[in-house]
Amino acid sequence: MFKIINIIIIYLIPIVPKSIIKIFANNYVAGTSIKESLQIVNKLNNQNLSVTLDILGEHTKSKSECFEITNNYKEILKEINNNNLDCNISIKPSHIGTDINSNLFKNNLQSILDQAIKYDNFVRIDMENSKLTDTSISAYKSLKNNNIGIVFQAYLYRTEDDINKLDVKSNIRLCKGIYNESPQIAIKDPYKININYLKLLKNALSNNIYVGIATHDKKLIKQSLAIIDEMKVDKNKFEFQMLYGVPMQSVINDLLNKNYKVRIYVPFGINWYDYSIRRIKENPNISRYVIKNFFLK
Ligand code: FDA
Repeated sequence: MFKIINIIIIYLIPIVPKSIIKIFANNYVAGTSIKESLQIVNKLNNQNLSVTLDILGEHTKSKSECFEITNNYKEILKEINNNNLDCNISIKPSHIGTDINSNLFKNNLQSILDQAIKYDNFVRIDMENSKLTDTSISAYKSLKNNNIGIVFQAYLYRTEDDINKLDVKSNIRLCKGIYNESPQIAIKDPYKININYLKLLKNALSNNIYVGIATHDKKLIKQSLAIIDEMKVDKNKFEFQMLYGVPMQSVINDLLNKNYKVRIYVPFGINWYDYSIRRIKENPNISRYVIKNFFLK
């Protein structure tokens, strides 16, 4: 019964006006401007949390927009430096050019990376759907230095091989994977995804690869910590990463008390609506509040 109510709620969410969604979006999205996002970064830094900033958006269709987004990322890197913030950036390849051509993407990424090198900062290439996996890995490998990293998804069968082919001193974020991929290429059983996640984590750490352990799955975090303990991995060889707004405070406090590094992925920008709808749908409690606010006002 509860499941059916949740499904109905998910269908009702798109008819809720943007003004109501915006109230809840504020939990997941750090405003629409660079200035607003940096205020949130500052607030999180004051709680001993590191941050990675992401400009919301994907599949940009015009060259000029790709350049504009590239310039915004460069501006962010400058502002992070000017304000002495503990923050790097995360970029979706399709946001800066892959839908137009892979050279445009690589050139834009190179230009952002140059700025990151100038300010001794770091660029993470987010991983999108499997059509972009090769392009993303190839760009990462061609640009690779200490200032750039990439993401791998534990649900893809290919990931084990991809991680095994990385150089030592690579820097990866390991996540479960969010896109709806075919069973030919992706593990579908959540339990098996977790088993693969832990195997990949072990492989990466034993190859001296820096890992951002990106999950809100409390059991998986515990199991990752057990691996880290067992392998006696140095604290500067990994960090934990979570999405802004996902209620993980007690886990975060626990990790910080044990002196582990925790980084919050903070998205912001004018394309806040679609992202917020996804987050709200993932959280049945918030979905129920949104619907109640709309129909009972
Ligand atoms: P799982 O889905 O099992 O969730 C564990 C618990 O957390 C559940 O109780 C769930 O309800 C709660 N939870 C999870 N997400 C929530 C949310 N948004 N709101 C409220 N509760 C939530 N994927 C990808 O394909 N490419 C990428 O580049 C990235 N990047 C990335 C960065 C960071 C920092 C994180 C944390 C995640 C990603 N992801 C990603 C997304 C990732 O692949 C995965 O889909 C989500 O993190 C959900 O999986 P969990 O590991 O959290 O476990």
